[in-house]
Amino acid sequence: MSDVRPAAVIVLAAGEGTRMKSSIPKVLHTIGGRTLLGHAITAARSVSPDHLVVVVRHQRDRVVEHVLEFDDRVVVADQDEVKGTGRAVECGLQQLPEDLTGTVLVTMGDVPLLTGQTLAGLAAAHAEAERAVTVITATVPDPSGYGRILRDPRGLVASIVEHKDATAEQRLLTEINSGLYAFDAAFLRSALEEVGTDNAQGEKYVTDVLGIARARGLGVGAHLVDDLWQTEGVNDKVQLARLGAELNRRTVEQIMRDGAIVIDPASTWVDADVTIGPDTVVHPGTQLLGATTIGAECVIGPDTTLKDVEVADGASVVRTQAELASIGAGASVGPFSYLRPGTQLGDGGKVGGFVETKNAVIGAGAKVPHLTYCGDAHIGEGANIGAGTIFANYDGVTKGHTEVGPHSFVGSNSVIVAPRTIGAGSYVAAGSAVVRDVAPGQLAVTRAQQRNVDGWVSSRRPGTASDAAARGAGGPDDADRTEGATR
Ligand code: UD1
Ligand code: CA
Repeated sequence: MSDVRPAAVIVLAAGEGTRMKSSIPKVLHTIGGRTLLGHAITAARSVSPDHLVVVVRHQRDRVVEHVLEFDDRVVVADQDEVKGTGRAVECGLQQLPEDLTGTVLVTMGDVPLLTGQTLAGLAAAHAEAERAVTVITATVPDPSGYGRILRDPRGLVASIVEHKDATAEQRLLTEINSGLYAFDAAFLRSALEEVGTDNAQGEKYVTDVLGIARARGLGVGAHLVDDLWQTEGVNDKVQLARLGAELNRRTVEQIMRDGAIVIDPASTWVDADVTIGPDTVVHPGTQLLGATTIGAECVIGPDTTLKDVEVADGASVVRTQAELASIGAGASVGPFSYLRPGTQLGDGGKVGGFVETKNAVIGAGAKVPHLTYCGDAHIGEGANIGAGTIFANYDGVTKGHTEVGPHSFVGSNSVIVAPRTIGAGSYVAAGSAVVRDVAPGQLAVTRAQQRNVDGWVSSRRPGTASDAAARGAGGPDDADRTEGATR
Protein backbone atom coordinates (compact mmCIF):
# COMPACT_ATOMS: atom_id res chain seq x y z
CA MET A 1 0.00 0.00 0.00
CA SER A 2 1.22 3.51 -0.79
CA ASP A 3 1.90 6.07 1.92
CA VAL A 4 -1.58 7.02 3.07
CA ARG A 5 -0.54 9.51 5.67
CA PRO A 6 -2.85 12.47 4.98
CA ALA A 7 -1.49 15.95 4.39
CA ALA A 8 -4.11 17.34 6.75
CA VAL A 9 -7.19 16.55 8.81
CA ILE A 10 -9.73 19.35 9.19
CA VAL A 11 -12.11 18.86 12.13
CA LEU A 12 -15.30 20.93 11.92
CA ALA A 13 -16.39 22.35 15.26
CA ALA A 14 -17.86 25.76 14.53
CA GLY A 15 -21.55 24.86 14.68
CA GLU A 16 -23.85 26.06 17.42
CA GLY A 17 -25.48 22.83 18.52
CA THR A 18 -28.75 24.50 19.56
CA ARG A 19 -30.48 21.16 20.18
CA MET A 20 -28.16 20.48 23.13
CA LYS A 21 -29.99 23.25 25.06
CA SER A 22 -26.79 23.98 26.94
CA SER A 23 -24.52 26.86 27.87
CA ILE A 24 -21.60 24.51 27.23
CA PRO A 25 -20.56 24.35 23.55
CA LYS A 26 -21.76 21.03 22.08
CA VAL A 27 -18.28 19.77 21.24
CA LEU A 28 -17.12 20.33 24.84
CA HIS A 29 -19.65 17.90 26.31
CA THR A 30 -17.93 14.74 27.45
CA ILE A 31 -18.33 11.00 27.14
CA GLY A 32 -15.83 8.53 28.53
CA GLY A 33 -14.06 11.36 30.35
CA ARG A 34 -13.13 13.14 27.14
CA THR A 35 -14.88 15.89 25.20
CA LEU A 36 -16.58 15.06 21.92
CA LEU A 37 -13.95 17.23 20.25
CA GLY A 38 -11.20 15.47 22.20
CA HIS A 39 -12.38 12.15 20.74
CA ALA A 40 -12.39 13.68 17.24
CA ILE A 41 -8.87 15.09 17.71
CA THR A 42 -7.61 11.76 19.08
CA ALA A 43 -8.88 9.91 16.00
CA ALA A 44 -7.47 12.57 13.69
CA ARG A 45 -4.07 12.59 15.41
CA SER A 46 -3.80 8.81 15.21
CA VAL A 47 -3.44 8.92 11.41
CA SER A 48 -0.40 11.24 11.82
CA PRO A 49 -1.40 14.06 9.48
CA ASP A 50 1.15 16.76 8.65
CA HIS A 51 -1.42 19.34 9.78
CA LEU A 52 -4.39 19.05 12.12
CA VAL A 53 -6.84 21.94 11.86
CA VAL A 54 -9.89 22.57 14.06
CA VAL A 55 -12.45 25.05 12.71
CA VAL A 56 -14.20 27.10 15.41
CA ARG A 57 -16.73 29.89 15.70
CA HIS A 58 -19.48 29.32 18.30
CA GLN A 59 -18.06 30.14 21.80
CA ARG A 60 -14.75 30.35 20.04
CA ASP A 61 -12.47 31.24 22.96
CA ARG A 62 -13.76 28.49 25.19
CA VAL A 63 -13.39 25.87 22.47
CA VAL A 64 -9.92 27.09 21.48
CA GLU A 65 -8.69 27.01 25.07
CA HIS A 66 -9.79 23.40 25.38
CA VAL A 67 -8.36 22.39 22.00
CA LEU A 68 -4.90 23.76 22.77
CA GLU A 69 -4.91 22.23 26.22
CA PHE A 70 -5.82 18.89 24.69
CA ASP A 71 -3.31 19.09 21.83
CA ASP A 72 -1.07 22.14 21.51
CA ARG A 73 -0.03 21.28 17.95
CA VAL A 74 -3.54 21.86 16.59
CA VAL A 75 -3.93 24.72 14.13
CA VAL A 76 -7.02 26.79 14.92
CA ALA A 77 -9.09 28.19 12.05
CA ASP A 78 -11.84 30.76 12.61
CA GLN A 79 -14.94 30.50 10.46
CA ASP A 80 -16.43 33.83 9.40
CA GLU A 81 -20.12 34.77 9.17
CA VAL A 82 -20.69 32.70 6.03
CA LYS A 83 -22.51 29.60 7.23
CA GLY A 84 -22.20 25.97 6.35
CA THR A 85 -19.84 23.01 6.37
CA GLY A 86 -18.37 24.04 3.00
CA ARG A 87 -17.39 27.43 4.35
CA ALA A 88 -15.97 25.76 7.45
CA VAL A 89 -13.72 23.54 5.32
CA GLU A 90 -12.69 26.56 3.25
CA CYS A 91 -11.70 28.46 6.41
CA GLY A 92 -9.72 25.42 7.52
CA LEU A 93 -7.87 25.28 4.19
CA GLN A 94 -6.94 28.95 4.52
CA GLN A 95 -4.74 28.04 7.49
CA LEU A 96 -2.81 25.49 5.41
CA PRO A 97 -0.01 26.05 2.88
CA GLU A 98 -1.47 27.21 -0.44
CA ASP A 99 0.49 24.60 -2.39
CA LEU A 100 -0.64 21.73 -0.17
CA THR A 101 -0.92 18.47 -2.09
CA GLY A 102 -2.08 15.01 -1.12
CA THR A 103 -5.10 13.96 0.91
CA VAL A 104 -7.19 16.17 3.17
CA LEU A 105 -9.54 14.37 5.55
CA VAL A 106 -12.56 16.20 6.91
CA THR A 107 -14.20 15.03 10.12
CA MET A 108 -16.81 16.35 12.56
CA GLY A 109 -16.23 17.53 16.10
CA ASP A 110 -19.48 15.93 17.25
CA VAL A 111 -18.89 12.37 15.98
CA PRO A 112 -17.04 10.81 18.93
CA LEU A 113 -16.99 7.08 18.21
CA LEU A 114 -15.12 7.32 14.93
CA THR A 115 -11.85 5.44 15.31
CA GLY A 116 -8.45 6.24 13.90
CA GLN A 117 -8.59 2.82 12.23
CA THR A 118 -11.65 3.79 10.22
CA LEU A 119 -10.03 7.09 9.23
CA ALA A 120 -6.89 5.23 8.15
CA GLY A 121 -9.10 2.85 6.14
CA LEU A 122 -10.75 5.84 4.46
CA ALA A 123 -7.39 7.40 3.61
CA ALA A 124 -6.09 4.10 2.24
CA ALA A 125 -9.17 3.43 0.09
CA HIS A 126 -9.06 7.00 -1.22
CA ALA A 127 -5.38 6.87 -2.12
CA GLU A 128 -5.66 3.47 -3.76
CA ALA A 129 -8.56 4.51 -6.02
CA GLU A 130 -6.88 7.83 -6.90
CA ARG A 131 -10.17 9.69 -6.55
CA ALA A 132 -10.96 13.37 -6.04
CA VAL A 133 -13.38 12.55 -3.19
CA THR A 134 -14.17 9.53 -1.04
CA VAL A 135 -17.03 9.83 1.46
CA ILE A 136 -17.78 7.50 4.36
CA THR A 137 -21.36 6.31 4.01
CA ALA A 138 -23.58 4.00 6.02
CA THR A 139 -26.91 2.37 5.47
CA VAL A 140 -29.12 3.19 8.43
CA PRO A 141 -32.65 2.20 9.47
CA ASP A 142 -33.71 5.81 10.09
CA PRO A 143 -31.97 8.20 7.66
CA SER A 144 -34.03 11.29 8.51
CA GLY A 145 -31.97 14.43 9.00
CA TYR A 146 -28.94 13.09 7.15
CA GLY A 147 -27.75 13.97 3.67
CA ARG A 148 -28.60 11.14 1.23
CA ILE A 149 -26.17 9.53 -1.19
CA LEU A 150 -27.47 9.69 -4.77
CA ARG A 151 -26.06 7.05 -7.08
CA ASP A 152 -26.18 6.96 -10.88
CA PRO A 153 -27.65 4.06 -12.88
CA ARG A 154 -24.27 2.32 -12.74
CA GLY A 155 -24.33 2.53 -8.96
CA LEU A 156 -21.55 5.13 -8.71
CA VAL A 157 -21.87 8.00 -6.24
CA ALA A 158 -23.27 10.99 -8.16
CA SER A 159 -23.97 13.57 -5.46
CA ILE A 160 -25.32 14.23 -1.97
CA VAL A 161 -28.64 15.87 -1.27
CA GLU A 162 -29.41 17.32 2.17
CA HIS A 163 -32.55 16.05 3.90
CA LYS A 164 -34.07 19.53 3.81
CA ASP A 165 -33.45 19.81 0.08
CA ALA A 166 -34.46 16.25 -0.81
CA THR A 167 -37.60 15.16 -2.66
CA ALA A 168 -39.99 12.70 -1.00
CA GLU A 169 -38.54 9.98 -3.21
CA GLN A 170 -34.93 10.84 -2.29
CA ARG A 171 -35.85 10.79 1.38
CA LEU A 172 -36.64 7.07 1.04
CA LEU A 173 -32.95 6.38 0.38
CA THR A 174 -31.21 4.85 3.40
CA GLU A 175 -27.57 5.32 2.44
CA ILE A 176 -26.46 8.42 4.31
CA ASN A 177 -23.56 10.84 4.27
CA SER A 178 -21.54 10.48 7.47
CA GLY A 179 -19.93 13.88 6.99
CA LEU A 180 -16.50 12.24 6.96
CA TYR A 181 -14.50 12.61 3.76
CA ALA A 182 -11.15 12.28 2.03
CA PHE A 183 -10.40 14.88 -0.64
CA ASP A 184 -7.59 15.63 -3.00
CA ALA A 185 -6.27 18.89 -1.58
CA ALA A 186 -5.94 20.89 -4.80
CA PHE A 187 -9.32 19.71 -6.09
CA LEU A 188 -11.04 20.60 -2.79
CA ARG A 189 -9.65 24.13 -2.83
CA SER A 190 -10.80 24.83 -6.38
CA ALA A 191 -14.18 23.10 -6.01
CA LEU A 192 -15.16 25.07 -2.91
CA GLU A 193 -14.77 28.28 -4.93
CA GLU A 194 -17.68 27.05 -7.08
CA VAL A 195 -20.01 26.16 -4.21
CA GLY A 196 -22.89 28.57 -3.64
CA THR A 197 -25.55 28.97 -0.99
CA ASP A 198 -28.64 28.35 -3.10
CA ASN A 199 -30.31 25.75 -0.90
CA ALA A 200 -32.96 25.32 1.79
CA GLN A 201 -30.65 26.56 4.56
CA GLY A 202 -28.83 29.28 2.60
CA GLU A 203 -25.52 27.69 3.59
CA LYS A 204 -22.38 26.73 1.76
CA TYR A 205 -22.48 22.93 1.80
CA VAL A 206 -19.30 20.85 1.57
CA THR A 207 -21.51 18.10 0.16
CA ASP A 208 -21.88 20.05 -3.10
CA VAL A 209 -18.22 19.30 -3.81
CA LEU A 210 -19.11 15.71 -4.78
CA GLY A 211 -21.41 16.81 -7.60
CA ILE A 212 -18.71 19.21 -8.79
CA ALA A 213 -16.17 16.38 -8.96
CA ARG A 214 -18.56 14.31 -11.05
CA ALA A 215 -19.23 17.26 -13.37
CA ARG A 216 -15.47 17.59 -13.91
CA GLY A 217 -15.23 13.89 -14.71
CA LEU A 218 -13.18 13.13 -11.59
CA GLY A 219 -13.41 10.03 -9.41
CA VAL A 220 -15.93 10.00 -6.58
CA GLY A 221 -16.44 7.00 -4.33
CA ALA A 222 -18.03 5.79 -1.15
CA HIS A 223 -16.34 3.98 1.74
CA LEU A 224 -19.16 2.10 3.40
CA VAL A 225 -18.80 1.34 7.11
CA ASP A 226 -20.88 -1.32 8.89
CA ASP A 227 -20.33 -0.04 12.39
CA LEU A 228 -23.07 2.60 12.47
CA TRP A 229 -21.97 3.94 15.87
CA GLN A 230 -18.84 5.32 14.28
CA THR A 231 -20.74 7.70 12.03
CA GLU A 232 -23.33 8.80 14.57
CA GLY A 233 -23.19 12.42 15.68
CA VAL A 234 -24.38 13.98 18.93
CA ASN A 235 -27.13 16.53 18.42
CA ASP A 236 -28.92 16.39 21.78
CA LYS A 237 -28.45 15.03 25.29
CA VAL A 238 -30.31 11.81 24.55
CA GLN A 239 -27.72 10.97 21.89
CA LEU A 240 -24.96 12.08 24.26
CA ALA A 241 -26.03 9.43 26.81
CA ARG A 242 -26.60 6.80 24.11
CA LEU A 243 -23.16 7.23 22.61
CA GLY A 244 -21.65 7.51 26.09
CA ALA A 245 -23.10 4.12 27.03
CA GLU A 246 -21.88 2.54 23.81
CA LEU A 247 -18.39 4.00 24.23
CA ASN A 248 -18.32 2.61 27.77
CA ARG A 249 -19.43 -0.81 26.54
CA ARG A 250 -16.54 -0.78 24.08
CA THR A 251 -14.01 0.45 26.65
CA VAL A 252 -15.02 -2.17 29.23
CA GLU A 253 -14.84 -4.86 26.57
CA GLN A 254 -11.31 -3.68 25.73
CA ILE A 255 -10.11 -3.79 29.36
CA MET A 256 -11.43 -7.35 29.60
CA ARG A 257 -9.57 -8.28 26.42
CA ASP A 258 -6.49 -6.72 28.03
CA GLY A 259 -6.89 -9.09 30.99
CA ALA A 260 -9.09 -7.46 33.64
CA ILE A 261 -11.94 -9.43 35.19
CA VAL A 262 -15.13 -7.36 35.19
CA ILE A 263 -17.95 -8.91 37.19
CA ASP A 264 -20.71 -6.64 35.87
CA PRO A 265 -19.83 -4.70 32.70
CA ALA A 266 -23.20 -2.92 32.76
CA SER A 267 -22.54 -1.17 36.07
CA THR A 268 -18.85 -0.55 35.44
CA TRP A 269 -17.91 2.82 33.96
CA VAL A 270 -14.41 3.25 32.63
CA ASP A 271 -13.05 6.38 30.98
CA ALA A 272 -11.20 6.18 27.69
CA ASP A 273 -7.72 6.85 29.15
CA VAL A 274 -7.86 4.35 32.04
CA THR A 275 -5.51 1.35 32.07
CA ILE A 276 -5.94 -1.82 34.13
CA GLY A 277 -3.49 -4.67 34.61
CA PRO A 278 -4.25 -8.36 34.12
CA ASP A 279 -6.31 -10.32 36.64
CA THR A 280 -7.49 -7.26 38.46
CA VAL A 281 -11.08 -7.89 39.53
CA VAL A 282 -13.51 -5.00 39.08
CA HIS A 283 -16.69 -5.44 41.13
CA PRO A 284 -20.12 -3.94 40.32
CA GLY A 285 -20.85 -0.26 40.71
CA THR A 286 -17.32 0.91 39.99
CA GLN A 287 -16.33 4.06 38.10
CA LEU A 288 -12.73 4.42 36.96
CA LEU A 289 -12.30 7.95 35.70
CA GLY A 290 -9.81 10.38 34.22
CA ALA A 291 -6.20 9.27 34.10
CA THR A 292 -6.67 6.42 36.57
CA THR A 293 -4.17 3.57 36.22
CA ILE A 294 -4.55 0.26 37.99
CA GLY A 295 -1.95 -2.47 38.28
CA ALA A 296 -2.30 -6.23 38.07
CA GLU A 297 -4.12 -8.52 40.49
CA CYS A 298 -5.91 -5.76 42.36
CA VAL A 299 -9.43 -5.89 43.78
CA ILE A 300 -11.45 -2.79 42.93
CA GLY A 301 -15.01 -2.19 44.16
CA PRO A 302 -17.82 -2.79 44.63
CA ASP A 303 -19.24 0.75 44.66
CA THR A 304 -15.98 2.56 44.15
CA THR A 305 -15.19 5.78 42.28
CA LEU A 306 -11.56 6.53 41.43
CA LYS A 307 -10.64 9.67 39.52
CA ASP A 308 -7.01 10.28 38.50
CA VAL A 309 -5.87 7.60 40.94
CA GLU A 310 -2.82 5.37 40.63
CA VAL A 311 -3.22 1.91 42.13
CA ALA A 312 -0.18 -0.39 42.24
CA ASP A 313 -0.21 -4.17 41.85
CA GLY A 314 -2.10 -6.30 44.31
CA ALA A 315 -3.89 -3.46 46.12
CA SER A 316 -7.46 -3.73 47.31
CA VAL A 317 -9.82 -0.74 47.12
CA VAL A 318 -13.31 -1.46 48.37
CA ARG A 319 -16.32 0.94 48.60
CA THR A 320 -14.07 3.94 48.22
CA GLN A 321 -14.20 7.45 46.77
CA ALA A 322 -10.77 8.73 45.75
CA GLU A 323 -9.34 11.51 43.63
CA LEU A 324 -5.74 12.45 42.71
CA ALA A 325 -4.37 9.82 45.05
CA SER A 326 -1.88 6.98 44.79
CA ILE A 327 -2.23 3.60 46.44
CA GLY A 328 0.85 1.42 46.90
CA ALA A 329 1.41 -2.20 46.01
CA GLY A 330 -0.50 -4.60 48.22
CA ALA A 331 -2.11 -1.73 50.15
CA SER A 332 -5.67 -1.93 51.35
CA VAL A 333 -8.31 0.79 51.28
CA GLY A 334 -11.89 0.70 52.51
CA PRO A 335 -14.62 -0.11 52.96
CA PHE A 336 -16.08 3.41 53.19
CA SER A 337 -12.89 5.41 52.73
CA TYR A 338 -12.57 8.86 51.22
CA LEU A 339 -9.16 9.69 49.75
CA ARG A 340 -8.91 13.32 48.72
CA PRO A 341 -6.25 14.93 46.50
CA GLY A 342 -2.65 14.49 47.63
CA THR A 343 -3.15 11.20 49.39
CA GLN A 344 -0.25 8.77 48.90
CA LEU A 345 -0.57 5.43 50.60
CA GLY A 346 2.65 3.42 50.71
CA ASP A 347 3.16 -0.23 49.83
CA GLY A 348 1.32 -2.56 52.17
CA GLY A 349 -0.31 0.36 53.99
CA LYS A 350 -3.88 0.45 55.16
CA VAL A 351 -6.64 3.05 55.17
CA GLY A 352 -9.73 1.49 56.67
CA GLY A 353 -13.40 2.14 57.31
CA PHE A 354 -14.71 5.68 57.65
CA VAL A 355 -11.32 7.28 57.17
CA GLU A 356 -10.90 10.54 55.29
CA THR A 357 -7.46 11.59 54.08
CA LYS A 358 -6.25 14.71 52.30
CA ASN A 359 -2.74 15.77 51.36
CA ALA A 360 -1.50 12.87 53.44
CA VAL A 361 1.59 10.79 52.75
CA ILE A 362 1.21 7.50 54.57
CA GLY A 363 4.36 5.38 54.67
CA ALA A 364 4.85 1.77 53.72
CA GLY A 365 3.08 -0.60 56.09
CA ALA A 366 1.53 2.26 58.10
CA LYS A 367 -2.05 1.77 59.21
CA VAL A 368 -4.94 4.17 59.61
CA PRO A 369 -7.58 1.52 60.14
CA HIS A 370 -10.72 3.17 61.56
CA LEU A 371 -12.75 6.37 61.85
CA THR A 372 -10.01 8.93 61.29
CA TYR A 373 -9.53 12.30 59.63
CA CYS A 374 -5.96 12.57 58.41
CA GLY A 375 -5.22 15.86 56.63
CA ASP A 376 -1.93 17.63 55.83
CA ALA A 377 0.15 14.91 57.41
CA HIS A 378 3.10 12.69 56.83
CA ILE A 379 2.90 9.36 58.59
CA GLY A 380 6.13 7.40 58.74
CA GLU A 381 6.39 3.78 57.75
CA GLY A 382 4.99 1.18 60.11
CA ALA A 383 3.16 3.75 62.26
CA ASN A 384 -0.27 2.91 63.67
CA ILE A 385 -2.98 5.50 64.00
CA GLY A 386 -5.66 4.38 66.46
CA ALA A 387 -9.40 4.42 65.87
CA GLY A 388 -11.02 7.82 65.93
CA THR A 389 -7.83 9.88 65.69
CA ILE A 390 -8.33 13.38 64.34
CA PHE A 391 -5.58 15.42 62.75
CA ALA A 392 -6.77 18.93 63.60
CA ASN A 393 -5.08 20.67 60.67
CA TYR A 394 -7.05 23.92 60.60
CA ASP A 395 -6.97 26.64 63.24
CA GLY A 396 -9.66 28.69 61.56
CA VAL A 397 -7.11 30.72 59.60
CA THR A 398 -4.33 28.49 58.29
CA LYS A 399 -3.70 24.82 57.64
CA GLY A 400 -0.91 23.17 59.63
CA HIS A 401 1.19 20.11 58.87
CA THR A 402 1.69 17.12 61.15
CA GLU A 403 4.63 14.78 61.07
CA VAL A 404 4.22 11.34 62.64
CA GLY A 405 7.52 9.45 62.87
CA PRO A 406 8.02 5.87 61.73
CA HIS A 407 6.81 3.05 63.96
CA SER A 408 5.07 5.42 66.33
CA PHE A 409 1.72 4.57 67.87
CA VAL A 410 -1.14 7.00 68.30
CA GLY A 411 -3.80 5.73 70.73
CA SER A 412 -7.48 5.74 69.89
CA ASN A 413 -9.58 8.88 70.05
CA SER A 414 -6.64 11.24 70.08
CA VAL A 415 -6.59 14.67 68.52
CA ILE A 416 -3.29 15.95 67.17
CA VAL A 417 -3.33 19.72 66.85
CA ALA A 418 -1.16 20.91 63.95
CA PRO A 419 1.49 21.99 63.31
CA ARG A 420 2.91 19.07 65.30
CA THR A 421 5.72 16.53 65.26
CA ILE A 422 5.30 13.13 66.84
CA GLY A 423 8.79 11.62 66.98
CA ALA A 424 9.93 8.28 65.65
CA GLY A 425 8.93 5.31 67.76
CA SER A 426 6.90 7.39 70.23
CA TYR A 427 3.52 6.67 71.79
CA VAL A 428 0.45 8.82 72.36
CA ALA A 429 -1.94 7.52 75.01
CA ALA A 430 -5.54 6.95 73.96
CA GLY A 431 -7.81 9.94 74.35
CA SER A 432 -5.03 12.53 74.31
CA ALA A 433 -5.23 16.02 72.89
CA VAL A 434 -1.67 16.54 71.65
CA VAL A 435 -0.74 20.22 71.60
CA ARG A 436 3.02 19.87 72.16
CA ASP A 437 5.57 17.99 70.08
CA VAL A 438 6.51 14.49 71.21
CA ALA A 439 10.18 13.47 71.08
CA PRO A 440 11.30 10.06 69.76
CA GLY A 441 10.58 7.29 72.23
CA GLN A 442 8.42 9.40 74.58
CA LEU A 443 4.90 8.62 75.74
CA ALA A 444 2.53 11.56 75.60
CA VAL A 445 -0.52 11.47 77.90
CA THR A 446 -2.67 14.54 78.10
CA ARG A 447 -5.75 13.38 79.96
CA ALA A 448 -6.70 13.72 83.67
CA GLN A 449 -6.02 10.86 86.12
CA GLN A 450 -8.98 8.50 86.52
CA ARG A 451 -10.87 8.57 89.91
CA ASN A 452 -13.14 5.67 91.01
CA VAL A 453 -15.70 6.78 93.63
CA ASP A 454 -16.86 3.92 95.88
CA GLY A 455 -20.59 3.63 96.61
CA TRP A 456 -21.52 6.50 94.32
CA VAL A 457 -24.44 4.66 92.67
CA SER A 458 -26.01 3.40 95.90
CA SER A 459 -25.90 6.91 97.39
CA ARG A 460 -26.76 9.04 94.33
CA ARG A 461 -28.92 6.60 92.33
CA PRO A 462 -30.53 4.48 95.02
CA GLY A 463 -33.23 2.07 93.88
CA THR A 464 -32.30 2.23 90.23
CA ALA A 465 -31.62 -0.79 88.06
CA SER A 466 -27.96 0.19 88.16
CA ASP A 467 -28.03 0.12 91.94
CA ALA A 468 -29.65 -3.35 91.93
CA ALA A 469 -27.14 -4.61 89.37
CA ALA A 470 -24.25 -3.31 91.42
CA ARG A 471 -25.57 -4.92 94.58
CA GLY A 472 -26.13 -8.20 92.72
CA ALA A 473 -22.51 -8.05 91.60
CA GLY A 474 -21.38 -7.59 95.19
CA GLY A 475 -20.64 -3.87 94.99
CA PRO A 476 -20.16 -1.86 98.19
CA ASP A 477 -23.48 -1.24 100.05
CA ASP A 478 -24.73 1.88 101.84
CA ALA A 479 -23.12 0.90 105.10
CA ASP A 480 -19.56 1.02 104.02
CA ARG A 481 -19.77 3.74 101.39
CA THR A 482 -17.11 6.37 101.74
CA GLU A 483 -18.18 9.17 99.50
CA GLY A 484 -15.42 10.93 97.67
CA ALA A 485 -12.90 8.19 98.26
CA THR A 486 -10.80 7.13 95.37
CA ARG A 487 -8.98 4.02 94.42
C1 UD1 B 1 -24.02 17.36 7.81
C2 UD1 B 1 -24.02 17.05 6.31
C3 UD1 B 1 -24.97 15.89 6.05
C4 UD1 B 1 -24.54 14.69 6.87
C5 UD1 B 1 -24.43 15.05 8.35
C6 UD1 B 1 -23.81 13.90 9.09
C7 UD1 B 1 -23.65 19.14 5.15
C8 UD1 B 1 -24.27 20.25 4.37
N1 UD1 B 1 -24.46 18.21 5.59
O1 UD1 B 1 -25.33 17.79 8.15
O2 UD1 B 1 -24.97 15.55 4.68
O3 UD1 B 1 -25.46 13.63 6.68
O4 UD1 B 1 -23.62 16.21 8.53
O5 UD1 B 1 -23.84 14.12 10.48
O6 UD1 B 1 -22.45 19.12 5.29
N2 UD1 B 1 -20.14 23.07 11.23
C9 UD1 B 1 -19.24 24.08 11.13
N3 UD1 B 1 -19.62 25.25 10.55
C10 UD1 B 1 -20.88 25.44 10.05
C11 UD1 B 1 -21.81 24.39 10.18
C12 UD1 B 1 -21.41 23.20 10.75
O7 UD1 B 1 -18.10 23.96 11.58
O8 UD1 B 1 -21.15 26.53 9.55
C13 UD1 B 1 -19.73 21.82 11.87
C14 UD1 B 1 -20.51 21.52 13.13
O9 UD1 B 1 -19.86 22.03 14.27
C15 UD1 B 1 -20.52 20.00 13.14
C16 UD1 B 1 -20.47 19.63 11.68
O10 UD1 B 1 -19.98 20.74 11.01
O11 UD1 B 1 -19.40 19.46 13.77
C17 UD1 B 1 -21.83 19.21 11.12
O12 UD1 B 1 -22.71 20.28 11.22
P1 UD1 B 1 -24.26 20.07 11.33
O13 UD1 B 1 -24.92 21.39 11.29
O14 UD1 B 1 -24.57 19.16 12.45
O15 UD1 B 1 -24.54 19.33 9.93
P2 UD1 B 1 -25.76 18.43 9.59
O16 UD1 B 1 -26.95 19.27 9.32
O17 UD1 B 1 -25.89 17.37 10.60
CA1 CA C 1 -25.06 16.94 12.82
